Amino acid sequence: MKPSVLVTCRLPSAALDALEKACQLDLHTKDNGLSADELRERVHDKEGLVCVLTDQIDQAVFDAGPNLRIVANVAVGYNNIDLEQARRHGVVVTNTPDVLTGAVAEFTWGLILAISRRIAEGDRVVRAGRWPGWALDYMLGTELRGKQLGIIGAGRIGRAVAAMADAFGMQVVFTDVNIDTGQSTQSESPGSMHWVSLDELLGTSDVVSLHVPLTVDTRHLIDRQVLARMKRTAYLVNTSRGPIVDEEALVWALGERQIAGAALDVYEQEPTVHPGLLSLDTVVLVPHLGSATRETRTAMAQLAVSNVVAVLAGKPPLTAVLN
Ligand code: GLV
Repeated sequence: MKPSVLVTCRLPSAALDALEKACQLDLHTKDNGLSADELRERVHDKEGLVCVLTDQIDQAVFDAGPNLRIVANVAVGYNNIDLEQARRHGVVVTNTPDVLTGAVAEFTWGLILAISRRIAEGDRVVRAGRWPGWALDYMLGTELRGKQLGIIGAGRIGRAVAAMADAFGMQVVFTDVNIDTGQSTQSESPGSMHWVSLDELLGTSDVVSLHVPLTVDTRHLIDRQVLARMKRTAYLVNTSRGPIVDEEALVWALGERQIAGAALDVYEQEPTVHPGLLSLDTVVLVPHLGSATRETRTAMAQLAVSNVVAVLAGKPPLTAVLN
């Protein structure tokens, strides 16, 4: 008999076909995700779970699914999964690294350009019929060439963003956050990377881009004090996880012009956005689209499916977070 798997979202057909060959599927295909109750109910007899970042895979889910052998998150971030509980229940957890690195890096540059060159703001002006016509000093932005990009979080995505900086003539500095201590670190330093302390990065960078995972140590890493240490002309870009930034503090920093602007793909309480951000022209707001290309979402789903098929066949997972 094929092992049974719950899938909490619509999957691209290439991934779904591969999963269907090996497993008995319980598919949730509606637009809104499964409620916590539905998730617990439907996981009870399943050996595999394919889920997304909006599903909270907590103790209640592990308790409700005593036969679970693998939870495959279709995302690189896995802060929605309680790893301690997964370990206690002996469940393998996998994510989808690498396949989305390029898409998120491209998108990060889209946001950097959108905020520094006022692209979204300009779009709003044109649509609202508020464009008074061309003028030499109209809607001036900031040039990237010769400026410094500060990358907080030097993992795959942070490094991929940095690799594109040359094309824009930007220098790059890095800092990282020690997952255990929450302190800024430069310990894994390959020679060609320019590592600085968090303080130096904040005080000298013209664009600060966030690429750390969400953990207890990185929650509100960007708070009032940190924002106050940035240059008043600098931009903050977040394509990692919303709660890394204290949105209340960001509204304050933008309102007081402590920083020049921000571009956000992620939010503390998605899909809700802090009302203070909605009225500001100095912030670009997009709806968590970092990895949202057809190519990448298909590759992510295929990788999650490959992990499930491997583990349920008694083989090692391809991309384990916890094995
Ligand atoms: C998207 O946010 C992901 O973690 O893959």
